[in-house]
Amino acid sequence: MPRHCLMLRHPRTRHPQPHFHGRRPLYTVHLGRKDGLVSDASHVEGDLPRPTMSLDQNIKVFQNKGFSIQEMVALIGGHTIGFSHCKEFANRIFHYNKNSPVDPAMNPRFATRLRELCKGYEKNTTVAAFNDVMTPGKFDNMYYKNLKRGLGLLSSDQGLGVDKRTRGFVELYAANETAFFEDFKHAMEKLSEVEVKSGSEGEVRRRCDMFNA
Ligand code: HEM
Repeated sequence: MPRHCLMLRHPRTRHPQPHFHGRRPLYTVHLGRKDGLVSDASHVEGDLPRPTMSLDQNIKVFQNKGFSIQEMVALIGGHTIGFSHCKEFANRIFHYNKNSPVDPAMNPRFATRLRELCKGYEKNTTVAAFNDVMTPGKFDNMYYKNLKRGLGLLSSDQGLGVDKRTRGFVELYAANETAFFEDFKHAMEKLSEVEVKSGSEGEVRRRCDMFNA
């Protein structure tokens, strides 16, 4: 996923060691993970979670890669940073259902601001909103606090705070940032070991978003 590419672009050390430092999760990045020699969007269908998929479907995507529901909730806390383009949540603010254009689970003032931001998004496709509206530039547990106030951006985000299989973990991470950091760190390390390629199956890229040749 390009998002992992982004997150792993600047490893802080050549000698992996467990970290927990300051107010953000630092974790071991094993260098030398290979990327495949083919990159085709159609090959990843079914392997990637989507905001429009049901929670059941998203849970399956993570379980197929060996992640528990708790690990999934911790990993999605990655949405404490970054952006999502309007088309990813347009259904929640413009055409939710025939009774209401706006998802009633969304904070109304937040919905109004997003509707203004995303006006004409079909033409101006680069417009995007912060995933964490309160502290967009800070890696913290605000993402989970937001879900409790209807400030989740994607349907898949907001759903985590509602379903009984995930709600308890949202509560835990909203109340306890240290628990979030610890679990995020372990789950990220585990993610980096999923389906590792060896030998001629891939190459260590010089630029993570391009083939070497
Ligand atoms: C149910 C699971 C997930 C869904 C449905 C989902 C969906 C999305 C979508 C639709 C975007 C916006 C993409 C765009 O508009 O360019 C996004 C952005 C992002 N996601 Fe997720 N995601 C999920 C899990 C994760 C996980 C596990 C991580 C990290 C561990 C993660 C990290 C990020 C980051 C950092 C961004 C911002 C990227 C940027 O600013 O360019 N997401 N996600």
